Amino acid sequence: GRVWTTVSSLTEELKDQTVLIRGRAQAIRAVGKKMAFLTVRERGYTVQCVLTVAPEVVSAQMVKFATGISKESFIDIEGVITVPPEAIKGASQQVEIQVRKIHCVNRAATVLPINVEDAARSEVEIEKALEAGEQLVRVNQDTRLNYRILDVRTPANQGIFRLECQVSNFFRQFLLNEDFIEINTPKLTAGTSEGGAAVFKLEYKKQPACLAQSPQLHKQMAICGDFGRVFIVGPVFRAEDSYTHRHLCEFIGLDMEMEIKEHYSEVMDVVDRLFVGMFDRLNERCQKELEAIGKQYPFKPLKYLRKTLRLTFEEGVQMLKEAGVEVDPFGDLNTESERTLGKLVLEKYGTEFYILHRYPLAVRPFYTMPCPDNEAYSNSFDVFIRGEEIISGAQRVHIPELLESRATACGIDVKTISSYVDSFRYGAPPHGGFGVGLERVVMLFCALDNIRKTSLFPRDPRRLEP
Ligand code: 4AD
Repeated sequence: GRVWTTVSSLTEELKDQTVLIRGRAQAIRAVGKKMAFLTVRERGYTVQCVLTVAPEVVSAQMVKFATGISKESFIDIEGVITVPPEAIKGASQQVEIQVRKIHCVNRAATVLPINVEDAARSEVEIEKALEAGEQLVRVNQDTRLNYRILDVRTPANQGIFRLECQVSNFFRQFLLNEDFIEINTPKLTAGTSEGGAAVFKLEYKKQPACLAQSPQLHKQMAICGDFGRVFIVGPVFRAEDSYTHRHLCEFIGLDMEMEIKEHYSEVMDVVDRLFVGMFDRLNERCQKELEAIGKQYPFKPLKYLRKTLRLTFEEGVQMLKEAGVEVDPFGDLNTESERTLGKLVLEKYGTEFYILHRYPLAVRPFYTMPCPDNEAYSNSFDVFIRGEEIISGAQRVHIPELLESRATACGIDVKTISSYVDSFRYGAPPHGGFGVGLERVVMLFCALDNIRKTSLFPRDPRRLEP
């Protein structure tokens, strides 16, 4: 077989060498009949390929053929690497290929619903281009999602999904190193797992069933099964009618659950080390991706402390109060007050990543452990990035009688969760854990405005396609 090179690995060190690449034709420009420039893209990286008519090397026919290739067609290029004196506009790689052979592997349709090169520009660039009178079609989010396989070809979108892969991999590796075991929990369930949020109902062999709205109950049952420390990476289904920038009907849940020896802060300690380590890793290993993302969606790097700030809910309410925002001290914070608190925390402590704990019991799910010193509060926490929630976690009730009374108090029929409650009758340790939304982590780390940008094929109340 021939030796193939990736576009991303084309550097000045390859000067004068002959390389063979395969990619998509991004832009083709003829200069008279004797010359053509062709930008080839592969996984978000682009290189400029030059065809110049020369006897025995490149024919005029070859130039004509090249200029007739439709955008996004798959092509093979063989040629010699040269280093132009000036930086190349619009290509990520700063070397050029002097084309010797060109072959079209598979043609793309001549009319495309999205021009990838245009779709890769930032809003500001698009504004400027339109002002300058450039011919440009602004593609809205729906069009982008309808033709997602074109939209995700932009360097920024390629970067987003590479980042996301790093996040879930880091979660896995970190917990494996801390003696956790990865388990899988059923996504087909008989009853609801959280209560509250709406579920997708389905028929399970003539029996009513639903899609799991979290692995919550089963991960706790795994703790009852003596696994000690478990985690799950898998889809979570929410039928809620929230058509917002941060809710999906299907997302990837990164869940963990662990025995607690003395205090629920042990769970927050894991959050702290896991996320500080993760942010460090992203900043170190994903510089190219972050740069590409920033070009299309400009953002400032996340500010976080070496030791994650922990505030109690009461302290948060107090900070809001001092800033003139009145909130119910025993209610939940709404999106706006969460954002405001995020800003106040940034001003006061210089971090955009922090933990808020000891929430009022009334606003937490039935399985949450009340605070032993004050039952109006609970051993629970939420974690925020840039003022938006990415994690919720808590110590759980491991005493079956208390669990029953808490469920009843929350309006849940205990009969529907009897196998779960019974699990605690046969010997169960104190335990706690948390759940993270993968898409939200990437969205907020990069300060993206919409969670649909971090889901490859998003599912929301209005979208089940593609
Ligand atoms: O806050 P949630 O609903 O908590 C649970 O599922 C608990 N069982 C977790 C636990 O262990 N106590 O969801 C956890 C996280 C949220 O913080 C958020 O990041 C994400 O999942 N999330 C969503 N992401 C996208 N779309 C939605 N509709 C989401 N709902 C929650």
